[in-house]
Amino acid sequence: MSFIHIRPNWQLPEKIATPEAAYFNRRRFLKNLAGVGLGIAATSCYGRPLTAQGTEVLDDTFGEPLTNFTPNPAFADAGWPLTEQRFASRYNNFYEFGLTKNIWENAQNLPTDPWKLEVSGLVKNPTTYDLDDLYTKFPLEERIYRFRCVEAWAMVVPWLGFPMAKLLEAVEPTSDAKYVRFESFYDEKITGGPSISFSNLPWPYHEGLRIEEMANELAFFAVGIYGRTIPKQHGAPIRMVLPWKYGFKGGKSIVKIEFLAEQPSTYWNTIAPNEYKFEANVEPDVPHPRWSQNEERMVGEGEAWNWVKRDTVIYNGYGDYVAALYA
Ligand code: MTE
Repeated sequence: MSFIHIRPNWQLPEKIATPEAAYFNRRRFLKNLAGVGLGIAATSCYGRPLTAQGTEVLDDTFGEPLTNFTPNPAFADAGWPLTEQRFASRYNNFYEFGLTKNIWENAQNLPTDPWKLEVSGLVKNPTTYDLDDLYTKFPLEERIYRFRCVEAWAMVVPWLGFPMAKLLEAVEPTSDAKYVRFESFYDEKITGGPSISFSNLPWPYHEGLRIEEMANELAFFAVGIYGRTIPKQHGAPIRMVLPWKYGFKGGKSIVKIEFLAEQPSTYWNTIAPNEYKFEANVEPDVPHPRWSQNEERMVGEGEAWNWVKRDTVIYNGYGDYVAALYA
């Protein structure tokens, strides 16, 4: 795949685009390792299948067209306007490739073909999936979900992929499996962002779920977005999507899934346990130690850098699906 780096004129200078970049300057980052955080950061048409607006692509860093999927009517409308891809795919967190929101160019270095996703641990059928398997082993569907970052920005995006429950059916966890660990691609020689200096951080990025959370109807593996394969900056070729949790729970570019008896450590919780919990559900009344979680800013919606604010909703509005998990 070749990449033409067109810098669109709506793309704002880094210093405007990323207030959190100030927090993430290298000195402070190192100094604050004990209490480091994700920092603070942040159209349209209502959710409808993919032919809708919001799917305008600027270049092939926005993915290749995918056609073999069916829209899931249960998730055809997330209640809020769809975020335009030109915003969602240019405002990303992928710290392996840099500490700002503007990592989309660096992320093009991510090698995704060939790809191996190894599923191991307490399962009856350990399996290694290759790139084609990700698009063909499980029926692909489209789901429009709300997405809420712990940094208080939010978006609404049409993911393409398959429920995590389908993978559970295929690999059959044993009764001893209580937790699942997910590991992201990592190679310091390739990622090359400023984060390369932070070799004392617990790379590779790794996340974890209780097995009941993974089995929940909402838990999803995305291999596409906006009708196309998932762009590298969003975590190609496969990333986790857990719409009732803060975005950091959704590891990108997953290479390993391991079924375990004990709760695994997780990346941000290891760095700052008082700021980033293992559970990390969206809870408006539980402030982050450094900012409120009552409101969120909708990426790209409204005036430039004065984005529309909405009230945060418990479990990001997905309580009907997940509240019972935390009763
Ligand atoms: N996965 C990896 N491997 N590395 C990361 O830095 N950032 C997380 C999550 N997954 C991250 C990651 C955070 S903090 C958020 S908010 C989402 O990815 C952002 O996803 P997006 O850039 O596709 O919107």
